[in-house]
Amino acid sequence: MAHAFKVRIEEVRVPAPDHVELIVQSPELAEALPGQFCHVLTPGMLRRPISFSRLERSGGRAGLLVQVVGSGTRWMAERQAGECLDVLGPLGRGFEAPAADRPWLLVGGGVGIPPVFAAAETWGGAFAPSLHVVLGARFKDYLIMAEDFRTLGIEPVLATDDGSVGHRGTVIPAVEDWVAQHPDGQVMACGPTPMLAAVSRAAASLTGAVQLALEQRMGCGIGACLACVVPAEPIGAEGPRYRRVCTDGPVFRREELVF
Ligand SMILES: Cc1cc2nc3c(=O)[nH]c(=O)nc-3n(C[C@H](O)[C@H](O)[C@H](O)COP(=O)(O)OP(=O)(O)OC[C@H]3O[C@@H](n4cnc5c(N)ncnc54)[C@H](O)[C@@H]3O)c2cc1C
Ligand code: FES
Repeated sequence: MAHAFKVRIEEVRVPAPDHVELIVQSPELAEALPGQFCHVLTPGMLRRPISFSRLERSGGRAGLLVQVVGSGTRWMAERQAGECLDVLGPLGRGFEAPAADRPWLLVGGGVGIPPVFAAAETWGGAFAPSLHVVLGARFKDYLIMAEDFRTLGIEPVLATDDGSVGHRGTVIPAVEDWVAQHPDGQVMACGPTPMLAAVSRAAASLTGAVQLALEQRMGCGIGACLACVVPAEPIGAEGPRYRRVCTDGPVFRREELVF
């Protein structure tokens, strides 16, 4: 059972406009799996789910990369080094480790990029050069962590809606190209639901696992309120069954989901 505890912010980074990365000291969070998240308490006693952007197991540190979209994320972005956060976690089902004998594609969109980076940092070392990365965002300033991938020796393929960096448009043409060249490949992706639905379709023919980390509005984060349910397989006579993103996910196999 996850419990709430306080973690100290060691460092605050500003990777892009409207984004901050809080590096917290917490051996407990540093042991999380990429794709898991923690629920951060914000004023008004509401918690907000944030994925781990990096997991430094040896140093006992974890990263939380936050894009400001509303009052909770704005409050997080205003925090300073030395302050503490009240967190619940690590929560949810993370990514399963990639199969060592298959080519591997990581796809990140917007604030879905941080968990994908955590996966590359955790497992990527054994994969070069069979690890490929595609990152997408609305425009250049929101295309975060490309430089972090380069520090791992990975040159990501970039796409922006407005063409301000990389290919103009979505990540999907690059995903389709990779799938065509790697029929035995495996995929991990995180981003907005329309992107994940398109990745799921593009990767349907792969023989390796396709794991998708969903972003969904949440309440309790621990399986009690059903605020986060999504339709899932198997679809019976009365329609799909429903799964909780906070505890059954956020990472699902593509064949578990109904888009
Ligand atoms: C498992 C999981 C992991 C996440 N990881 C990260 C992360 O690493 N970094 C990060 O910046 N954000 C992440 N998010 C999204 C983040 O939780 C929300 O942006 C945050 O809760 C918004 O809170 P707020 O009070 O700032 O905004 P609110 O005032 O609650 O909402 C502001 C706007 O954002 C929209 N919104 C809020 N939550 C979501 C959501 N979950 N999905 C889509 N739209 C939403 C609202 O509809 C509204 O339009 C994650 C979400 C989930 C479910
Ligand atoms: S957020 Fe409450 S059940 Fe998932």
